[in-house]
Amino acid sequence: MAFLNPWASQQFKDYARLRDEFGIREFNFDLPDAPLLFRRGIIIGHRDFEMIYNRIIHGEKFAVLTGLMPSGRMHFGHKMTIEQVVYYQNHGGDVHIAVADIEAYASRGISLEKARKIALEEYVPSYIALGISPDRAEVYFQSKRKEVKDLAWKLGKKINLNEFMKIYGFGNEANMSHVFSPLIQVGDILHVQLDKFGGSRPTVVPVGVDQDPHLRLTRDLVDRWRMFSIVPRDGKVGVFYKGEDAARVLGKLKGRVEALGATVELNVPYRALYAAMDGDLYGNIRKINDVVIEYEREFNSFAFYEPTATYHRLITGLTGGKMSSSIPDSAVFLTDSPEEARRKLMRAKTGGGATLEEHRKNGGNPESCAVYEFLAYHLIRDDRYLQEIYDSCRAGSRICGKCKKEAANLVAEWMADFQEKREQAKELVGEIVKEY
Ligand code: TRP
Ligand code: SF4
Repeated sequence: MAFLNPWASQQFKDYARLRDEFGIREFNFDLPDAPLLFRRGIIIGHRDFEMIYNRIIHGEKFAVLTGLMPSGRMHFGHKMTIEQVVYYQNHGGDVHIAVADIEAYASRGISLEKARKIALEEYVPSYIALGISPDRAEVYFQSKRKEVKDLAWKLGKKINLNEFMKIYGFGNEANMSHVFSPLIQVGDILHVQLDKFGGSRPTVVPVGVDQDPHLRLTRDLVDRWRMFSIVPRDGKVGVFYKGEDAARVLGKLKGRVEALGATVELNVPYRALYAAMDGDLYGNIRKINDVVIEYEREFNSFAFYEPTATYHRLITGLTGGKMSSSIPDSAVFLTDSPEEARRKLMRAKTGGGATLEEHRKNGGNPESCAVYEFLAYHLIRDDRYLQEIYDSCRAGSRICGKCKKEAANLVAEWMADFQEKREQAKELVGEIVKEY
């Protein structure tokens, strides 16, 4: 099995293969008032998103957690993550954003002071300007939040070094802070389910697909710390208890599951409870899981929901390769001046023909055009107009020079407007940042 290395900067092209290999499922939810990025296929996969989808549809609460490494300047790739968070916040999610300062220290050697400065000056004003409202949202530092660090060392007890190496493939030269840092991320993802932060509830983690190893680790650890496992069994829902005194424990649970309208059978020697219920099996599993978690929480402070994740594609850089803070021309940074942004788009690598004549004859390839990607993901709201751009590019009637100019004008306009909001947002930084 191939590794997904969260600290390397690969470009993935073959998302279908990636899904097959890691059991990530294709994302095709019809979300209410879906913003641009959900409509344009930026989300290429998910784990367990049904749980969040249901909450959104029914107006129920859930948590949203993501994190960013404060390592450089914030660019349009990072913007995609925050825009998803904004959508969730507007649809019932309470928002938690980690400043991954421990990870930045461990994997990139960035000091905590520097990370703090970058977070406060570069990232947080942009989060707010992109639409995160300080009401029902917080930004916190990994290094300051005791609960995150405590969960890291506590939960880590149930995974051994061999399994860890199979997930991450660390080399012999890896420093131990770096090796430990995935457990800090587990702490990030799960601590929002502690009582102090709102209690057990479904949590969505919107991230780039390179982060999947951390989600697999977190989900595995949750499963290992749970007292029950809940799986389909012959068309019914099977609840299997891992502990002692099954007769008493399952006996108590029985009534709670029956209250959902299920017909329940116990098999004490197997430490099992079987529930038959009308309706969709996986929907029933979710309902029963809700009840079981509520019950389990009385005995197990780690009775967490396995986090849900969505994975977005990694955005192509303007220079063709990856979009990265370390290649200034590959990215438009949110603090670039409008003129700078315009210039970068004018110089971007397109999918156009080698010569104008060839382009007219064979058409361009929007699929491998950084300018088209920018238009689709960031600049053109109108679906029909985007389709027109696509078709006329393919047909060769749309010419790269003019097309770039249009994109460049739009981006410059966007930047000017955004930066005005960003100036105002600076005043709100103190409201959203937590010092614990
Ligand atoms: N590892 C992420 C990155 O490299 C940052 C991160 C830290 C994160 N904690 C997280 C992402 C929790 C999602 C959830 O960018
Ligand atoms: Fe890209 Fe536009 Fe050229 Fe098509 S016409 S290849 S979309 S720049």
